[in-house]
Amino acid sequence: MGVDLIIKNIGKLITMKGNNYPRIKEQMNDIDIIENAYIAVKDGKIYEIGLGNKYRDIVDDSTRIDDALGLLMTPGLIDSHTHLVHGGSRENEFYKKLSGVPYIEILNNGGGILSTVESTRRSSFEELYEKGKKSLDRMLEFGVTTVESKSGYGLDLNTELKQLEVGRELNNNHPIDLVHTFLGAHAIPKEYKNNKINYIEKMVNDIMPRVKSMGLAEFCDVFCEEGVFNIEESEHILKAAKKMGFKLKIHADEIVHLGGTELACKMGCISADHLMKASEVGLKKLAENKIVANLLPGTSFNLNKGYADARKIIDLNVPVSLSSDYNPGSCPSENLQFIMQLGCLHLNMTPNEVLTAVTINAACAIDRQNDIGSIEVGKKADFAIFDAPNIEYIMYHFGINHIDRVYKNGKLVV
Ligand code: NIG
Ligand code: FE
Repeated sequence: MGVDLIIKNIGKLITMKGNNYPRIKEQMNDIDIIENAYIAVKDGKIYEIGLGNKYRDIVDDSTRIDDALGLLMTPGLIDSHTHLVHGGSRENEFYKKLSGVPYIEILNNGGGILSTVESTRRSSFEELYEKGKKSLDRMLEFGVTTVESKSGYGLDLNTELKQLEVGRELNNNHPIDLVHTFLGAHAIPKEYKNNKINYIEKMVNDIMPRVKSMGLAEFCDVFCEEGVFNIEESEHILKAAKKMGFKLKIHADEIVHLGGTELACKMGCISADHLMKASEVGLKKLAENKIVANLLPGTSFNLNKGYADARKIIDLNVPVSLSSDYNPGSCPSENLQFIMQLGCLHLNMTPNEVLTAVTINAACAIDRQNDIGSIEVGKKADFAIFDAPNIEYIMYHFGINHIDRVYKNGKLVV
């Protein structure tokens, strides 16, 4: 029996192969480029990587042979932080934001996240599904083959479950693989405005166990921020989640410095996300604990509030990933290539570091490093194929989509 697929004549194959995951410092620049390569795929997995036409003895009449002459191939891109499933949009707050009203002030006046909570509660399962599907289609077109997707626009039992069930259905039907995160601690719902403790208890004692027993989420996340959930509350929520068997994530030190980065270390989070206001002590601890710093430059770009200090974070030996944070408020864009370009233009990362940050390190941020994020025998046959002469070109020629085609589990999907 021959293999299912050969992709031959690959102009440049970027494997991201290596022994150390997640990658830190110089390892983030250390990228293998193989010219004139082929890839063989069997049962949705990478079967063989070779040079020239040496694939002859593993093909038969049933093998599909595609040509990637002059193209650049990378692992399928990974967007490891999104708020994919939600109702409505927030262009009505756009001008308010441009005229300087702070993000947290909009939220505290019932807008922001809370206005999306209203839209999400009102949306039917089908409406949320169709909207989520449209976004996933866009992401796929930009070369993204795996997406992390958070709840957190329900903030009540039924809507949190509805959001996560929509995510599950999308995962079943869409080529993109989803990784699901419970983010009941995203804001304080209006019913509990003056009674945050009761909301936390409801979340921990009622919603979280239901999410767990229904198998709807693998991770639990908290928006640890001034005016949202403070350090003690975040720790309480993450502890409860850990006890129930969730893996942990945290929105940490985004707008003010609260110490969410240190809390990520104390709790053993897989990733700590945002980090614009993280302290050096916190960042050093991330490095010691090999916690991925998941940076979200699209949010900085859109809120115009300054970027995370990626150079310092990389210098301190912290593994860095980059994601879109796609959501209707702070980053209404599904374009991960634009995020990569911001990685170079505003985080001063090198093109190679950026590619590492949206492939193997992003896989680490969602605990999928054994399945995806690099082109290695046995991993999923997820490939992004770019019409670009080299990696630099993708970052330099900004604002457009460089994808020629995309494969997911060895099937051509774009
Ligand atoms: O990661 N910071 C909190 N949550 C999202 C924003 C969500 C929203 O504004 O709707 C974020 O930026
Ligand atoms: Fe977020």
